Formats: sequence, C-alpha cells, structure tokens
Amino acid sequence: MDKINILVLGNGGREHAFCWKLAKSQLTNQLFIAPGNGGTEDLAINLDIGVNDFESIKKAVLLNQIKLVVVGPEDPLVNGLHDFFLSDQALKDIPVIGPKKMGARLEGSKEFAKMFMQRHEIPTAQYGSFTAENIVQGYAFLDQMKSPYVLKADGLAAGKGVLIIDDLKQAKTELTKMLLDQKFGVASSKVVIEEFLTGIEISCFVLTDGEAHLTFPTAKDYKRIGEGDKGLNTGGMGAISPVPFMDDQFNKKIQDRIVKPTIKGLLEDNIPYLGFLFIGLIKVGEEPYVIEYNVRMGDPETQVVLPRIKNDFVELLLATAEGRLSQIEIEIDDLSVTTVVAVSGGYPQEYQKGKKITGLEKVKGSIVFHAGTTLKEGKIVTNGGRVLAVTSYGEGHESALKQSYGQIEKINFEGINFRKDIGFDL
Ligand code: AMP
Ligand code: GLY
Repeated sequence: MDKINILVLGNGGREHAFCWKLAKSQLTNQLFIAPGNGGTEDLAINLDIGVNDFESIKKAVLLNQIKLVVVGPEDPLVNGLHDFFLSDQALKDIPVIGPKKMGARLEGSKEFAKMFMQRHEIPTAQYGSFTAENIVQGYAFLDQMKSPYVLKADGLAAGKGVLIIDDLKQAKTELTKMLLDQKFGVASSKVVIEEFLTGIEISCFVLTDGEAHLTFPTAKDYKRIGEGDKGLNTGGMGAISPVPFMDDQFNKKIQDRIVKPTIKGLLEDNIPYLGFLFIGLIKVGEEPYVIEYNVRMGDPETQVVLPRIKNDFVELLLATAEGRLSQIEIEIDDLSVTTVVAVSGGYPQEYQKGKKITGLEKVKGSIVFHAGTTLKEGKIVTNGGRVLAVTSYGEGHESALKQSYGQIEKINFEGINFRKDIGFDL
C-alpha cells in the first residue's frame, strides 16, 4: 500500500500521542497537525489553523494531499466537520476518523445520551431533564432526590458543565442559574439532573466502523488537582493502564451490557458511527454504569492507551474508515503504562504562560507528550494549563510510576505542579 499524508486535528497531549503512534506506521508519509503544540513539531508539520475553521482545514487538506484526517477533540465533530467533508465534492472521499454530527450528539447533548441509554437499556443513573419552561418540575424533581445532587448542562461546556452539590437549597439555586441566567450559556438552556452514583470511575475506549468494534485497553484517569483526589476538577492529572482491579468477569459485563448494546443501538437508531467512542464508566459494587459518552479519545488516557497497542495505527484507522474492522485483531502489550501530568501553577484556575521549560533533554526511558507548550524563539515554553505528560512502561503500575516520577523530576518550569500520588488508590 502507498504511504499517505495524514492530518491530526487538536493541540493537546492526546494529539501528540496520536502523532507519536502514527509516526511509527509504515503507511505514514508526512504528518500534519492543526494547530499542534511545541512537541508535535518534532513529528509533524504544525499548521496554524483552528480545529473549527473548516474552510482553512479544507484548503490545507487539498494543498497537502491529505488522505486521512484524525480528529482529536469533540467540538469539530459536534459542529459537523465529518458532514462538511462528506458534502464537499473535493473532500468527500477523504476519510475522517470521528462521527458525523448526529453520532457526535452522544457527547454534544447529555439528554440525547440519556434517552439513547434508556431506549437501549444501557445501565446509567436515573435522571430527569428540564428547561426554563418546566423549572418548577425541576425543583420538585430535586426535592425527591437524595443528596448529593448532580446537575449537568445538556450541551458542551468545556468540561465544566457538571455540578455536584450536597445542599438541596444550593442545588435549586444552581438549577435556576443554569436555566434562567444561562450560567453555561446555551449549553445550560437544558439541564439533566441525575442520581449520584458512588464507585470508582474507569475509562473504556472503543474503535468502531459502525458495525464491528475493537476494544482498546481500559484506563483510569485522576481528575482532581489535589492529592488523595481532593480539590477542583481538571482535564486529568495522570492515568494508568491497565486498571489492576478489572478482571475478566467485569470486562465481560462491560462488553455485554454496555459496549455491544451501544453499537447495536446506534445501528438500530440509524446513526452511522465511525471513530473512537470513550465510555466513562463507574463501577458500583460489581456493576458497570455509564456516566457519559465521549466521541473521542480521552486526555491523558490516550497517553497510556496508545503505547499499549501493538497494531499499526494507520492500518487500524483505514480499516475503520473502510468498514473492515471485523477483519482486524487488536494486539495489546501486557506491560503497564502510566502517565503523570505537569501543570502550570494555579491551574485549573488562573495561571501564567510563556515559562521556559528546562530539562526535557535529560529525560531517559520515558516519553514526554506535550500539551500546553509552544516554541518561542527556538525554546519550548509553557502555553496552557496542562503542560506535558511523562509516560512510562513498567512490569506493573508501581514500576511504571516510579519511572515517570524519576523522569518528571528532571523537568522544570516556573510554577510547575504535578500530583505525587497517581495510582495511590490501587
Ligand atoms: P461528566 O462531564 O459527565 O463526565 O461528569 C464529570 C464528572 O462528574 C465525572 O467524571 C464524575 O466524576 C462526576 N459525575 C458525573 N455524573 C455522576 C453521577 N451520576 N454520579 C456520580 N458522579 C458523577
Ligand atoms: N480525561 C477525561 C477526558 O478526556 O474527558
């Protein structure tokens, strides 16, 4: 098969990991990324184009003879990037990895996802859905729920649209702010109120061509800023794969009760779906429940999941685009992989950018995936909240973590912060 030019969309650690894995493929000619970051420059040509600038993406795809587009974040998918390609004469035969607008609603609308799960009997928390018109019923719904109260903006809210509140009165105040004062803009013109589930969260990843699917390694993400899982939510401070407490029986439950019914449900509902599906699960007792669907890979989970996949990534993605996934078997490395994320001081609240990063060249035996970095006058400087992730292999998660921590110590920038306790709960 001929080597091809590939375009990745996004600028995070996830997309750097995509580039790292794509660059290993025999089928890759030249990699491009839009917009990319300071680390992707080593593997790909960074294009100064935003992920939602469809017209500029089109120009770049045609100019650079791109033959495969891999979408990192959800926004361009929810905004219809795949549909845009299919409706354009010049682009329609260029495969896009990521669902069309209709499938992307699994992430783009919490209510849509809940209705989908209900229709297909996929285990998830009980819920009610409310708008400004029936806010009074929303208050009544809260009255008959138990604390803590889970309030979710229906639409995309940059990962901030979920509130978990102990106090009933405060929950009602927040519901009012979301529905009447547009706390999260149009994203909260509808609010899903959910039963609170207690358990351990797990990230499950699937690649599907709409009929067949491959299950990627599962991962555990550490979302809170502080040690012991305390403090504010972040995009993710570290991850490990595999998840030690997941046995065959539990994995089978996930397949039988969640993954297979989801793929079948999409088919039954006539929602063509091609690409990654990230199912956020919670293990309640011995039972898996769906917390959310995402129509993309996770970040920082990708930085531990892709290093464990032995298959040629381009081959996997082309098979997905061409509906040949049933012919492919996934090969997974038995080693554990961990990643520890270094963030800017102050993140997830206000932080500064432009801090010079030192020590990167001293890292040995680990992979540094860049996220919020950029190249300024030939030097790598910070450019975001989550700055980079140090990924390592090991015989078990303890040894992989020891390696990640040994290497992250060599990296420095003003205000650097990272959690010292990734994997503490295992
Ligand atoms: P989401 O954006 O839906 O992933 O929600 C953000 C976070 O809120 C999740 O990662 C969970 O930690 C938490 N969460 C969401 N829904 C629930 C629920 N029904 N019960 C308990 N925790 C939840
Ligand atoms: N790490 C969680 C996410 O990517 O949404």
